[in-house]
Amino acid sequence: MSYQHILVTKEPGFAVIQFNRPDVLNALNMKMMEEIVEALETLDKDEEVRSIILTGNEKALAAGADIKEMADATSVEMLVRDQFARWDRIRKIKKPLIAAVSGFALGGGCEIAMTCDIIIASETAKFGQPEIKIGVIPGAGGTQRLTRAVGKYKAMEMVLTGTMISAEEAKERGLVNRIVPIEYFLEEAKSLAKEIAGKPPIAVRLAKEAVLKAFDTTIEGGLEFERKNFYLLFASDDQKEGMKAFVEKRNPEWKGR
Ligand code: CAA
Repeated sequence: MSYQHILVTKEPGFAVIQFNRPDVLNALNMKMMEEIVEALETLDKDEEVRSIILTGNEKALAAGADIKEMADATSVEMLVRDQFARWDRIRKIKKPLIAAVSGFALGGGCEIAMTCDIIIASETAKFGQPEIKIGVIPGAGGTQRLTRAVGKYKAMEMVLTGTMISAEEAKERGLVNRIVPIEYFLEEAKSLAKEIAGKPPIAVRLAKEAVLKAFDTTIEGGLEFERKNFYLLFASDDQKEGMKAFVEKRNPEWKGR
């Protein structure tokens, strides 16, 4: 796979999508977003890939949508561009997405981290939704996902003032899973990806689906959904193997079937 604004690499059990517009702090232009989504969809179908890491460089995951590309657009042009439709495609990715964040994760950068399922941060990571400072509001899910992650009051403060929060504060508020020294943020994400690669893929897929369901359903609907996924796994070879291996006191050998 070869792209203009991203680098895609595969390692045993996982893949890494690295944003690569360092001169503009990885500002997400439309071409780059299209490439990210295309790469995600391709990797989602690749059975060798069990999870996908999204990362940038030490200075930035991404400093937001590309402001220069939007500055002169009219409302109708924005509507016709429908650039956020790409973000709906990210929501449909079935494999776990891990964000490995260092430096700025602002605007669309924070939003793309929040489309991921796990967020690893370097100690320099800064998260924010600064759109209010340029006359708009978050448009790629920030008002919804940030609020679900950090609660109404902190989200409101961040969205209304555009103030960034540190990795430490993001972790305290549940927006970040782990903070690691800057030289290890990608390594930490990779070691998590390796851990996930050792798990049965169908169960991983149904587990992700069930956890995400918690955000758009009632507790009753969510419990029902979870139960059906649980029962469904009893049709998989991996459930038989996993339980048999436990009883026989050996490591399971997953088939992904
Ligand atoms: N779009 C386009 N270019 C950007 C950019 C963005 N979002 N963020 C940074 N850049 C560019 C700068 O224009 C600059 O380019 P030049 O060298 O050609 O001038 C380069 O990246 C480096 O940036 P700075 O010189 O500003 O670096 P800094 O260290 O002084 O400041 C910063 C860093 C605080 C992140 C600052 O760049 C900044 O405030 N960026 C904009 C952040 C922002 O408003 N993001 C929200 C965008 S809107 C959005 O994302 C909508 C949505 O919901 C999807």
